[in-house]
Amino acid sequence: MEKKDIDWANLPFGYMKTDFSYVCNFKNGAWEEGGLTPDHSIQMSECAGILHYCQEVFEGLKAYTTEQGEIVCFRPDLNAKRMADSAERLCMPAFPEDKFIEAVKMVVKANAAWVPPFGSGATLYVRPFMFATGDVIGVKPADEYQFRILVTPVGPYFKGGDTAVTLGIAEYDRAAPHGTGNIKAGLNYAMSLKPGMEAHAKGYAENLYLDSQSRTYVEETGGANVLFVDAEGTLVVPQSHTDSILPSVTRRSLVVVARDLLGLKVVERPVKWEEVLAGSFIECGLCGTAAVISPVGHIVDDETVVEFPAGAETSGPVMKKLRATLTDIQQCKIEGPEGWVCKIM
Ligand code: PLP
Ligand code: COI
Repeated sequence: MEKKDIDWANLPFGYMKTDFSYVCNFKNGAWEEGGLTPDHSIQMSECAGILHYCQEVFEGLKAYTTEQGEIVCFRPDLNAKRMADSAERLCMPAFPEDKFIEAVKMVVKANAAWVPPFGSGATLYVRPFMFATGDVIGVKPADEYQFRILVTPVGPYFKGGDTAVTLGIAEYDRAAPHGTGNIKAGLNYAMSLKPGMEAHAKGYAENLYLDSQSRTYVEETGGANVLFVDAEGTLVVPQSHTDSILPSVTRRSLVVVARDLLGLKVVERPVKWEEVLAGSFIECGLCGTAAVISPVGHIVDDETVVEFPAGAETSGPVMKKLRATLTDIQQCKIEGPEGWVCKIM
């Protein structure tokens, strides 16, 4: 199959239209059959629930070309489940999890020419999303919905290769309201736009958000979970005591990679911002589908700068090893745990 004529190595993390999207409607209390569409625009009522009360949830995963030329994706079952959990919180009907995986396979296969070649540094980003199309004027859930998947080839989320980024500390919460940060709903990202713009204006790549209840615990950034390594080489994974951290597929996979494949000690626990300030950690990284594992060299809070000495300029040794192992599994260079890689074609 002929690949598209694209400068894969220099792709931004951006959107371009491909050949097909997937679309499926929910009407009369049931999901319709669904299928591919070449139409990348959406027409809907001015009274649609998404436009007034923000009933929208989404997911993000990637399709990869392996060295053997196969196209695969990574743990789509976890995205399907998380989307169902997100939908439940916003009173939306869950999209059936097996149908989700079939739809991902169908739309990636139909856009195979857009899946970046092995070794190009780019991937096909797969964005399932679902929103209320039914009319609502009183505050209540809509009764009609549309589920779609768009795909688009992307380059790295953070420019600069392995150069460590600097984070700021946000003055606002990333999610609204308190305790909903564990769902992947557009409204949470809307809440993160203003603090995100303020961080960029100060020269930071992203914000590190603290828990909204006490502002004492570390949560995550606007688009990735955060990981630390302490002086003993233990991977310390922040846990939320208020369930406000998105259950990242990448983070959950890295915990297994670190513990079972690399033999590292892993501790998942609430992490106080005080501990970070006190210099307890020597490496820091951001993990997610888009971020993969991106090194964090510094975190700035007003006048205070925290440096992660083993990874201040580029990835430290633990982040580097985690990234290499995870990406090798995702691209089938090494075998990961059973069921992680899902063959598409
Ligand atoms: N946290 C937030 C807020 C995100 O938007 C993402 C991206 O999906 C992640 C974490 C990482 O999650 P995952 O590894 O499932 O992509
Ligand atoms: C992802 O990593 O898939 C995300 O959704 C992060 C960001 C692009 C919103």
